[in-house]
Amino acid sequence: MISVVVANQKGGVGKTASTRHLYFAALERKLRTLVVDLDPQKNATKTILGLADPKVIAAGKWLTSRGMFKQNSVAVPMPVNGISALISADDDLVDVGDFSMKLIVEPRKTLKKFSDQYDLCIIDTPPSKGKLLFAALACADLVLCPCTLDEDSTDGLATLFEDIERVRMMGWNPDLQILGVQVNKMLTKSANDRGALEELKNSLGDLVLNDIMYERAAIRQAIRRPVWQSVRGGENKGAAAREMKAACNAILDRAGL
Ligand SMILES: Nc1ncnc2c1ncn2[C@@H]1O[C@H](COP(=O)(O)OP(=O)(O)O)[C@@H](O)[C@H]1O
Ligand SMILES: [Mg+2]
Repeated sequence: MISVVVANQKGGVGKTASTRHLYFAALERKLRTLVVDLDPQKNATKTILGLADPKVIAAGKWLTSRGMFKQNSVAVPMPVNGISALISADDDLVDVGDFSMKLIVEPRKTLKKFSDQYDLCIIDTPPSKGKLLFAALACADLVLCPCTLDEDSTDGLATLFEDIERVRMMGWNPDLQILGVQVNKMLTKSANDRGALEELKNSLGDLVLNDIMYERAAIRQAIRRPVWQSVRGGENKGAAAREMKAACNAILDRAGL
């Protein structure tokens, strides 16, 4: 199993939109996929629960992402369809902020138990710094960093890279690698955004993924199904679909899937 954590402590940059679409793209590749929602806002959880059988949802005490911090838990991820499963976020996930630092590596150990059952694990994270983000980074092989082109967001990348370095240095996950920076919500006609992209490429080189995602209204509506399958047409749906599909495929390719 290759695990990809989608992280950037800044909110609204497209972590959950990327998580959802990577999941949809992975299913189209017939990859056995596990989604872990480590964001107490539960946006990814809601999408995936909508695809699961209500009887299955009600049937068991499924593993939640808060439960991943419990030592020796026996709960398992909730099956969603033949080839995917969910470890959903729950309301008391916010308590993790009060946990001892020793528990940061616990979700990684929990996840390891399922690693022979899936090809890909996608982990969504909260828009904040702290123990939840450290625990998520500790779980993964690769970090995907969605980023918008405003100064707050590009400055935020430096903070994220510091956190990644800390996770390596603390020994929580010494082999953690950055998969890449996914530029999102670029404005097609903005000279400012073009300049910011140039600067980002100058400072990060190949880490900046080539398939840029532009600001497209159709992405906001693509909650329950991928934007490339949206039922309602929109002016930019074609472009939104093409760009999102290309970005997801490039990410899966780079992850070796
Ligand atoms: N390329 C895009 N174009 C337009 N809206 C987008 C795009 N990417 C994300 N969004 C929207 O922006 C909002 C924030 O995105 P989201 O994925 O929830 O961010 P995060 O998880 O990083 O907080 C959501 O309403 C989402 O649908
Ligand atoms: Mg989110």
